[in-house]
Amino acid sequence: MARHELVLVLDFGSQYTQLIARRIRENRVYCEVHPFDLSVDAIVGRQPIGIVLSGGPESVYNPEAPLIDPEVFKIGIPVLGICYGMQLMAHHLSGRVDRASEREYGRAEIDVSEPGALFAGLSERQTVWMSHGDRITRAPKGFRVCASTSNAPIVAFEDPERELYGIQFHPEVSHTLSGDAILRNFLYGPCEAAGDWRMTSFLEEAVASIRKQVGDGKVLCALSGGVDSSVMAALVKRAVGNQLIAVFVDNGLLREAEAQQVIHSLRDRLGMPVVVQSAGSEFLTVLDGVGDPEVKRHLVGRLFIEVFERFAKEHDDVRFLAQGTLYPDVIESVSVKGPSAVIKTHHNVGGLPEKLGFELIEPLRFLFKDEVRQLGRELGIPEDLINRHPFPGPGLAVRILGHVTSERIAMLQQADSIFIHELRESSHYDKVSQAFAVLLPVKSVGVMGDERTYENVVALRSVNTQDFMTADWSPLPYELLGRVANRIVNEVSGVNRVVYDITSKPPATIEWE
Ligand code: XMP
Repeated sequence: MARHELVLVLDFGSQYTQLIARRIRENRVYCEVHPFDLSVDAIVGRQPIGIVLSGGPESVYNPEAPLIDPEVFKIGIPVLGICYGMQLMAHHLSGRVDRASEREYGRAEIDVSEPGALFAGLSERQTVWMSHGDRITRAPKGFRVCASTSNAPIVAFEDPERELYGIQFHPEVSHTLSGDAILRNFLYGPCEAAGDWRMTSFLEEAVASIRKQVGDGKVLCALSGGVDSSVMAALVKRAVGNQLIAVFVDNGLLREAEAQQVIHSLRDRLGMPVVVQSAGSEFLTVLDGVGDPEVKRHLVGRLFIEVFERFAKEHDDVRFLAQGTLYPDVIESVSVKGPSAVIKTHHNVGGLPEKLGFELIEPLRFLFKDEVRQLGRELGIPEDLINRHPFPGPGLAVRILGHVTSERIAMLQQADSIFIHELRESSHYDKVSQAFAVLLPVKSVGVMGDERTYENVVALRSVNTQDFMTADWSPLPYELLGRVANRIVNEVSGVNRVVYDITSKPPATIEWE
């Protein structure tokens, strides 16, 4: 990739770290996330225009707490500490951080006494999102306090001489109403960004770099039918045309009629010559009797690779393998070594091993999901394909709680299809971010036509989210939910009850497994 202005985010384990990076890119500045212990030499070597220290779950007083080499504060590159990042700054530069007996979590009002660089042009009272335990009670020497709340005396400070800035709240979360403006102030103020990150330039650079890497070799890529792998394949096709061989592994765990639709879209609408590998029965066999969510995820991921490997071995003149790995996958695998916690093992077509003996091409490895959609538009992929709700790699295996059987797959496909159909009919499909049905491993008693029934329960899930890292349940109209429930119970044999999931993420996740 050609050289762009770069901001480095050092990850201290906050669930919001990726959001910080996204927000910075939305402001047209390229940004990368690295583990907190990236050496000062490595930082300087990358020539960033700014550094952001993320939040994190630890207290600076914990003996295991991730610390930073204080030299970072002396290299003359502007540094913004967010939450734990700000406390680290105070801790290392001899301010004072007090242990708190309780966490402050949620919305808070702050009073800005000194706008400084970060609050320039913003009003004196700001609604922000807090999530911290310890609090700062004395700013380090040379710093001035910029904002406070009724129970925390220092929630923002700065030392413009040394270009060090700290905020106790999270500007990357949408609940901080001026969060975007605060980040922009940091980027276009102290960091003096010009804002040179654009999707069109990314597309041109990516095409050129794929052509250079591939020459006249052949490229194999695995398609799941999801947005990421379709965009990846379209990009590789744009770069090397017919040198691309696209393989779609049908694992039998897709939504109703999805495999046919995907193949039709890719072949007929995108002109992609797709080879289909049907392996539904193999997937059912390995899942037989397995109930544990993580085991199911691993089994589906591994078999996907085996099926693909088999295909690949038959084409030994192929030198390159294109993967749809996204930036969040890359960051997650870095953070696992650092302090971030893995909540569930995500697998997608980007999980293929390098030992397949190919040279890897991962053109999306620096992009976030919404950037991939933007790139898809640049490539001329139709809107309805781009706006399809995301679908997890392990498919219905993680939406059928407990054991997966062909009967249960069919039952869930039918229920899900009714839900999606009604959402489309009522124009709600494009208003929500992701919606689906889940088949629960419990039976409930009902009565139908004077007969007692004892059958399955389906849960409906619909969420609104920007980034899929946090999400709210969708407030769908009652009559729509009622119609869906009615149709499912009447039309899907084996289901006698439908419930609606009204938990947000966190504390729940979007998928049930
Ligand atoms: P959770 O359940 O973690 O899901 O809140 C967040 C988003 O990720 C999708 N998801 C996956 N996507 N492979 C994927 O490609 C996976 O294994 C996987 N698991 C969950 C989920 O549908 C939601 O959009």
